[in-house]
Amino acid sequence: MKYAGKYRELRWLIVLSRPYLGWMLAGALLATGVLLANVALLAVSGWFITAMALAGLGGTAINYFTPAAAIRGLAILRTAGRYLERLITHEATFKLLAGLRQWFFEHLEPLAPARLQYLPGGDLLSRIRADIDSLENAYLRIFTPALAALLSTILMGGFLLFWSPGMAVINLAGLLLAGVFIPLIVLRAGLNSGQVLVQARAALRQRTAETVRGLAELTLFGNPQQRLDTLRRENNDLIGPQRQQNRLDAGGSVINTLISQFTWLGMIVLGIGLVQAQRITGPELVMLALFGMASFEAVAILPPAFRAWGETRQSARRILDLVDAEPIVIEPIAPQPAPTRFDLCFDAVTLRYPSSAKPALDAISLVVPQGQIVAIRGASGSGKTSLTNALLKFWPLVSGDIRIGGQSIHDLSGNTVRGLCAVVSQHTHLFNTSIAANLRLARPDATDDELVAALKAAAVYAEVAAFPRGLETEVGEAATRLSGGQSRRIAIARALLKDAPIVILDEPTEGLDAASEQAVTDALRRLIAGRTALIISHRPKLLTLANQIIRMDQGRITLP
Ligand SMILES: Nc1ncnc2c1ncn2[C@@H]1O[C@H](COP(=O)(O)OP(=O)(O)O)[C@@H](O)[C@H]1O
Ligand SMILES: [Mg+2]
Repeated sequence: MKYAGKYRELRWLIVLSRPYLGWMLAGALLATGVLLANVALLAVSGWFITAMALAGLGGTAINYFTPAAAIRGLAILRTAGRYLERLITHEATFKLLAGLRQWFFEHLEPLAPARLQYLPGGDLLSRIRADIDSLENAYLRIFTPALAALLSTILMGGFLLFWSPGMAVINLAGLLLAGVFIPLIVLRAGLNSGQVLVQARAALRQRTAETVRGLAELTLFGNPQQRLDTLRRENNDLIGPQRQQNRLDAGGSVINTLISQFTWLGMIVLGIGLVQAQRITGPELVMLALFGMASFEAVAILPPAFRAWGETRQSARRILDLVDAEPIVIEPIAPQPAPTRFDLCFDAVTLRYPSSAKPALDAISLVVPQGQIVAIRGASGSGKTSLTNALLKFWPLVSGDIRIGGQSIHDLSGNTVRGLCAVVSQHTHLFNTSIAANLRLARPDATDDELVAALKAAAVYAEVAAFPRGLETEVGEAATRLSGGQSRRIAIARALLKDAPIVILDEPTEGLDAASEQAVTDALRRLIAGRTALIISHRPKLLTLANQIIRMDQGRITLP
């Protein structure tokens, strides 16, 4: 566990955002500038109008060019600053998200499938994706506003201190109360109902989606009315916590308004004394009072930031729990460098899952010479996938050894082993992003030409090129915008880009129609050409690619 302890989510996010720190600072500085321009605009205007009125009453002339120009300048600064700030923060957010996805894929790969396949729900990856996307909050709604609030509070405090320490203290107290204490109290009070709400909402969303997807089956075999009643009941369950949250929010904002009014009042009362003592002028009093009023804008962004932090933290925790858990396979203390030959040797490999008494692999021995293709058939549950789990170091061996190019995988790090292998399976996942981004997961620096070459070799380029947005086509949730054959061939293109010397195909044509199967098989032929390959399949078409076919049964090889 790399990230443990109380603030592990925060530390992880900070480490992750380090490359974008410059962007974040620029965004926060701009946000501060906008806030201050806003406050100054109101304060200068107040001073100006009062000074003009007093000058009118007293019949004296004042220089109105400078303040008028300042007001115009501040207004322009505010608008231009806001625009620039949006530009920069959004750019930074996109960069951060892209980096996060990359990071996550790199860290997810070592875990799949050992951990992922046993987590509930096929929606796991889309939930993870939602979690990753919600991390953009960290920057847009949490770090930037918090930093801007802090900076502008300090600067505003300095300004007030120059005029009157008393006012500065009153203002600071008001800002702290309204920006930090009250929101924290509201947050704490709403913690329970908030959690209930998040869970209830997620459950309802999942059940609704499931109901819609399975509507045909439900209508044919089940009782749709009963299902609808359940949905309605769950919907009603949401209302209670929602009402409580709304009450808290409303209460919090009422109290905050009161605090700002009292702060403002306090500053005026203090200011009147100062005017009477002739320490400040009337227009200056108006200026300071309006300054005090406007200053609350700086902390108005904090309550939503606190709230966003609660959600973001949950998302970050889920991702960390998944990625950062203790590895199932212990890494060597002194990992050896990657071998340069790529023949595979399984030597009396025994593997047993904790939940079962019978070993999934029972002293299996098998040799795949470099550049040869061995196919494995066998009934479901006979241990075929376990063989690849063992090779990829997803599961530890009870006994025996696996050697790549003569080098025991015990002495290789998991990342080294997996770096040597490309896997295409029935469940190969495409992320809900563009085709290009999915391909670049295998090789981030691949040029467009290289992507095209890989897609061509995978026999899917013509179809991708026919999409209006070509390589930039979004594949959709669970690749729903592609056919099964298309997404399988895009996954093959990704494996081609990885250019690994060892290829593992785990039922790669399962669930495809005959035409797609033919296209995918052709693509696979190009993928395995010249590489050491293991093919797990029953499909006669695929089996023709193999130099040797073996059969497995109950964790043993039954036919050579
Ligand atoms: N992670 C796991 N935990 C417990 N049992 C497992 C796990 N993975 C597979 N098994 C069991 O091990 C046996 C072999 O599974 P598997 O290698 O997936 O077979 P195949 O790929 O040939 O269908 C099966 O009995 C299966 O139920
Ligand atoms: Mg299997």
